Amino acid sequence: MGLRAVLLTSVPMLLVAGLSVAGPVPGMPDPVHGKDLALRLCANCHLVDNQQQQANVDVPSFSEIANVEGQTAGTIMAQIVLPKHPMPTIPLTKSELADLAAYILSLRKSG
Ligand code: HEC
Repeated sequence: MGLRAVLLTSVPMLLVAGLSVAGPVPGMPDPVHGKDLALRLCANCHLVDNQQQQANVDVPSFSEIANVEGQTAGTIMAQIVLPKHPMPTIPLTKSELADLAAYILSLRKSG
C-alpha cells in the first residue's frame, strides 16, 4: 500500500475518532457553544451565568428561565424565536437555538 493510500484511509478514521472523544456530537445540541453564544448575544440584558455580576434588572436571568415549571428546550426556543417586547428578535440558526436552549436548561436545578 502506497503512502497515498495510507493517508486516504487513516486520516478520516483519525478525524472520526477525534470527534467522538473531544467534540460535540454532530446533530446534538451543544451547551458549551450555547453558553458562548449567550455570553456574546444575550448578556447585555440577561444574567446568563453565575459569574456575571450585572444585567438589566427587569430581564429574567437564564437560571430563572431554566427553572420555570414545565420549561423545555421547545418552549425556550419558541420564546427566543418569537420574543415578547422588549426582547429583540435575534437572528439565529436552528442549531444555535438548540445550543442556547441546551445551555439554559443546563442551569436547571435538579429535583
Ligand atoms: C435587548 C435585551 C435582550 C437581549 C439582547 C436578549 N433578551 Fe431575552 N428577554 C429580554 C426581555 C426584556 C425579556 C422579558 C420579556 C417579557 O416577558 O417581558 C426577555 C425574555 C426572554 C425569554 C423568555 C423568558 C420568560 O420567561 O419570559 C427567553 C427564553 C430569552 N429572553 C432568551 C434570550 C436569549 C437566548 C438571548 C440571546 C440570544 C436573549 N434573550 C437576548 C431582553 C433581551
